Amino acid sequence: MHDIIRQLEEKRGAARLGGGQKRIEAQHAKGKLTARERIELLLDEDSFEEWDMFKEHRCHDFGMAEQTVPGDGVVTGYGTINGRMTFVFSQDFTVFGGSLSEAHAEKICKIMDHAMKVGAPVIGLNDSGGARIQEGVASLGGYAEVFQRNVLASGVIPQISLIMGPCAGGAVYSPAMTDFIFMVKDSSYMFVTGPEVVKTVTHEEVTAEELGGALTHSSKSGVADRAYENDVEAILMTRRLVDFLPANNRAGVPVRPTTDSPDRMDDSLDTLVPDNPNKPYDMRELIIKIVDEGDFFELQPEYAKNIMIGFARMEGRTVGIVANQPLVLAGCLDIKSSIKAARFVRFCDAFGIPVVTFVDVPGFMPGTTQEYGGIIKHGAKLLYAYAECTVPKVTVITRKAYGGAYDVMSSKHLRGDVNFAWPSAEIAVMGPKGAVEIIFREEKGDPAKLAAREHEYRTKFANPFIAGHRGYIDDVIMPHETRKRICRSLAMLRDKKLENPWRKHGNIPL
Ligand code: HXC
Repeated sequence: MHDIIRQLEEKRGAARLGGGQKRIEAQHAKGKLTARERIELLLDEDSFEEWDMFKEHRCHDFGMAEQTVPGDGVVTGYGTINGRMTFVFSQDFTVFGGSLSEAHAEKICKIMDHAMKVGAPVIGLNDSGGARIQEGVASLGGYAEVFQRNVLASGVIPQISLIMGPCAGGAVYSPAMTDFIFMVKDSSYMFVTGPEVVKTVTHEEVTAEELGGALTHSSKSGVADRAYENDVEAILMTRRLVDFLPANNRAGVPVRPTTDSPDRMDDSLDTLVPDNPNKPYDMRELIIKIVDEGDFFELQPEYAKNIMIGFARMEGRTVGIVANQPLVLAGCLDIKSSIKAARFVRFCDAFGIPVVTFVDVPGFMPGTTQEYGGIIKHGAKLLYAYAECTVPKVTVITRKAYGGAYDVMSSKHLRGDVNFAWPSAEIAVMGPKGAVEIIFREEKGDPAKLAAREHEYRTKFANPFIAGHRGYIDDVIMPHETRKRICRSLAMLRDKKLENPWRKHGNIPL
């Protein structure tokens, strides 16, 4: 017995050491934590239960039979985040570069399967050179097993990916199918093929950072939801994100007690919207002033800034916020912003998170770049997402709601449950200037007449009352009471039940 215990301790010690002290030091020298240090930081103290610590690869080629490391380059198991169950895998770059072997994939699949059985999130800490080259097709098969589970888990349990090192080849496609991706600046990369291959194939010279660094993916490609300064920040922000998320698609949103009264008024909101309809203002200010304790967890803040998405709480319950941002491109909808918001609305819908939408949108972005890029198809994604969404939907139009964008942004016609407008709202087919230039085209040579027409149009349509007359707006509310009115609406909608007709799945324009 003594011997067995000693052997066990030795094996545990070897597993904990991963690829050895030298490689651990190299990992630290790059500013990176090890796989185990990351898990320790992510989960509540002493909550981690590790599985498959002794699992080894089964490869005999290229001298691999002599090189086995218990755990095979990935630490897996479960634990809690602020007391809530979470499954986790953390790839160990010190062991064969965190590359994925058949056995490594089996470990990840095992915790994914359990997460599905019990209905809890999976968080992947990715730091991997991709498929284990020595294993050939066995490692490709391993990846595909993980991909299949990512897809089956999509919309059932939240899946979060942290990219904390180089992720090449197959290592990017599993994260790509998860719900949220956080990257670490200067030490994490995601690309299908690295700079060397790019140079050979396209003769482009590009650094790893430019090709697939955290800033590239959080501001240019939209692949990543956030870019953080270092491992510690990325992990702590992941804990914060998890606090907002339901454990699964049937669990309901988590509730966090708050001292922030649902009746809290904010008089400063009455002057948020400038008198001049062409002057921008910061919609973020409205969000911060309305949600519980000003706590807004924004996603993709550096990408398609003309729309904002993220989580907040109202009366302690998670809501998804979607808001046009008049500070950027006047808040109009374009390809990137439509895709960004559509995916977020679908996440909220899948997980039963109510959607609160703040609208100030002059329309869809015109021009050849947008048309050639497929704004018709991509704009339709947001329309589709809101239309199929059955969770509680509360909408506040602060200023412009013009044209198709009025319809898209959680309008009454797309089963918006409660639709409010501020007195400053302008709900019309288009802005007054554009409208009179079309309907009174023959008066174009007479600026005075045109100005009078514009004034007439503005008086008639640049307000919320025409929509109010038809019941498309449930009430015109004072800005300072917005929080109270939203909280009451959400409380009323708490037991909302709405189902779409049965189908295998819809055919969202991709
Ligand atoms: C086996 C690997 C490996 C891999 C790295 N290593 N990647 N071993 N399979 N895929 C090993 C290295 O040999 C090295 O071992 C150790 O990990 C650390 O790697 P370094 O190269 O020294 O580290 P670094 O300089 O930081 O570079 C990291 C890297 C680079 C950028 C990830 O290693 C790299 O380019 N690796 C190959 C990436 C790749 O092409 N993967 C296959 C993708 S194809 P020693 O013993 O020397 O320390 C794929 C197909 C799936 O994934 C497709 C599904 C759709």
